Amino acid sequence: MEIYHKKQNLNQFIKELKAQKLSLGLVPTMGALHDGHLSLIKKALENNDRVAISIFVNPTQFDNKDDLKKYPRTLESDVELLKTVSNDIIVYAPTVEDVYGDNVTSVNYTFDGLEHAMEGKFRHGHFDGVGTIVKRLFEIVQPDNAYFGEKDFQQLMIIKKLVEKHDIPVNVVGCPIHREKDGLAMSSRNTRLKPEYRNASPFIYKTLLAAKEKFGTKSANTVTEWVEKQFENHELLKLEYFTIADTQTLKTVKRKSKDKTYRAFIAVYADDIRLIDNIALN
Ligand code: PAF
Repeated sequence: MEIYHKKQNLNQFIKELKAQKLSLGLVPTMGALHDGHLSLIKKALENNDRVAISIFVNPTQFDNKDDLKKYPRTLESDVELLKTVSNDIIVYAPTVEDVYGDNVTSVNYTFDGLEHAMEGKFRHGHFDGVGTIVKRLFEIVQPDNAYFGEKDFQQLMIIKKLVEKHDIPVNVVGCPIHREKDGLAMSSRNTRLKPEYRNASPFIYKTLLAAKEKFGTKSANTVTEWVEKQFENHELLKLEYFTIADTQTLKTVKRKSKDKTYRAFIAVYADDIRLIDNIALN
C-alpha cells in the first residue's frame, strides 16, 4: 500500500504511471471507510490498471463547524480495511494545507440549477465546496475514471456537470447505494448514531420503499404529504425534507409525465446526525 500525504510525491508516481500508459481509477472519500466505499474500490479495481483513493475531510463543504469537528477521522483503520481488498491501492491522504495552501475557501460554481434544490438549499455553500475539492483532486490525481456512490445522487449529478462544464477529461461513474441488512444506507456518519437512533433509522428506507409503491398510483404531492405525516409524530427521527424530483433536472415534480424518470430524496435528523437517502421511483 502506497500512502502519500503530499501531492508533490504523488505527482512523481502519477507521472511514471502515465508514462507507462496505465489507466487510473480514483475513489474520492472523506474516510471512515465502510463496505459502500469498498464496493466503489472493487469496481475501480475491475476497470483500471491502478486505483487511487483519496481520504480527506474537506472543510469547505461543511456549513456546520460542529459537524466538521465531529466527522470521524480513522486513517489507520481505513488503511487496514483497504488491505482486505488489495495491497495495490494508492492512498492520497493530504493535509488541508497540501490541498488548499493558506487559502481554505471554495470557488463559486453554478451547475445549471442542480445546486439549488435539496442539499444545496439546506447546506449553504456545500456544493461549491464539493466542486472545489473534486476539481482539485482531479487535477492532482489525473484519473481516467472516478467513482461516486448514488447515495449522494445530487452530488453525483453535480460532479458530472462540473466535468462537462470545465471539459475535465475524467469519466464519472455512479455506483448503486450500499445498504445495511436492515436497509439503512451505508454512511460514515452511521458510526456516530446512538443505539436507539441506529435502531430507529431503517424507518427511512422503509418509508422510501412505501413511497415508491404509492407513487405508482398517486401524485407526487399526495406521496410527499403522506411521507411528511409518517415523520410528524416520530419520537426520534426529524424529517428535514422529502422531495420527488425529475432525475435529470432534480426539480421537484408537479405533474408526472410518462417519458420521464423520477427519484425520491430524503434528509432526516437522528439526534444531531443528518442522514440522507434516495430511491429510483420508475
Ligand atoms: O462524498 C464524499 O465523501 C465527499 O463529498 C467527496 C466527494 C469525497 C468530496 O469531499
